[in-house]
Amino acid sequence: MQHTVNVQLAERSYAIHIGRGLLNELPERIASRFHKPGHAVIIFDQGVAAYSRHASQGLVDAGWRVSPISIPSGESSKSVDQIAKLWQEMLEQKTDRGSLVIAIGGGVVGDLAGFAAASFARGIPLVQIPTTLLSQVDSSVGGKTGINLPGAKNIVGAFWQPSMVIIDSETLDSLPRREYVSGLAEVAKYGVILMPELFEYLEQNAALAIGKDSEVVRHLVAESCRAKAAVVQEDERETSGRRAILNYGHTFAHAIESVAGYGKLLHGEAVAIGMHMAALLAQRLGRLEASAVERQQKLLTALDLPTSLSSADAKQMWDVMQHDKKVQHGKLRFILPTRIGHVELVEGVSAEDACWAIQAAS
Ligand SMILES: NC(=O)c1ccc[n+]([C@@H]2O[C@H](COP(=O)([O-])OP(=O)(O)OC[C@H]3O[C@@H](n4cnc5c(N)ncnc54)[C@H](O)[C@@H]3O)[C@@H](O)[C@H]2O)c1
Ligand SMILES: [Zn+2]
Repeated sequence: MQHTVNVQLAERSYAIHIGRGLLNELPERIASRFHKPGHAVIIFDQGVAAYSRHASQGLVDAGWRVSPISIPSGESSKSVDQIAKLWQEMLEQKTDRGSLVIAIGGGVVGDLAGFAAASFARGIPLVQIPTTLLSQVDSSVGGKTGINLPGAKNIVGAFWQPSMVIIDSETLDSLPRREYVSGLAEVAKYGVILMPELFEYLEQNAALAIGKDSEVVRHLVAESCRAKAAVVQEDERETSGRRAILNYGHTFAHAIESVAGYGKLLHGEAVAIGMHMAALLAQRLGRLEASAVERQQKLLTALDLPTSLSSADAKQMWDVMQHDKKVQHGKLRFILPTRIGHVELVEGVSAEDACWAIQAAS
């Protein structure tokens, strides 16, 4: 079964197509938007070269000139060096504003290729083909693209909406289980911030979700895209504050990732722990019932996600959070739930309360 979610952003609107085997229909899907075959630059993660070859073959058969460019796997590819190489290769491949950039891979390649599309020749149309669960439910939708500088993640980039997102659920078959499960944390996040029925569906289908049951996966991806699209439609460029609700659990998670050292915990694992800390903090502040905290913890556990950090150093994490952009005058702002399905921005959280929550989840 296939599913389409539309992101409504006036002239920047686009469709997200979700289904198994969609890569086989790539030329037709692309023709529905770009009509004549032309030049496509396929920027792909070297770990998913087989999907790139498949996509490339289909497009060549349909009359496209294709320039495949391989990117080494891993966060370190979101760098100035890598984007410079990419621009140079695009130039050598005679890329111009009439070309099309196709990104195939997880969030790393999506962010890098997205920024290449946003910047080269002052902007080229982009098609996202995300192949990790995290990129399918989060990074490929919403138009944030960019790279890192040493010590500053995602600091250079652009808002550049894709012209189309093609999610072939079959690509998840080859995704390592731990990477896949990590992506489920962001799905649970949408449930807590916005979609109580998605939260309930996850509770009822946790085992099938972990087992990559195709119908369950399609539903989870489609609902997550619907949630992300709804938030992005309200606040495309993060100006009204609405888009900040997507950061639920992330202030803690970023501190965990930075203190625990990148690489030890996957992003989604840190987000799950961060969500538990945020829920505990909300409970301490009298904003959330204990039963909701327990319900969230039970779901995260059922999804095989962690909710505690064995060696949390609250003081060290607090110091990291101080440097987070959400700090104002030494007091932190947090996205905190009031119930499953609703969150609020809470200003002026004290160090004592935040550190208590970190310790309580340790
Ligand atoms: N732009 C946004 O809105 C946004 C949102 C969230 C995260 N991000 C970014 O996304 C990045 C993380 O993305 P990610 O979690 O997808 O990581 P990733 O892109 O590094 O992919 C994870 C690993 O999975 C491998 N892989 C990818 N697809 C595979 C498949 N189908 N089968 C087997 N292996 C596969 C990759 O080679 C890589 O080793 C971060 O850089 C983060 O900043 C961006
Ligand atoms: Zn995240």
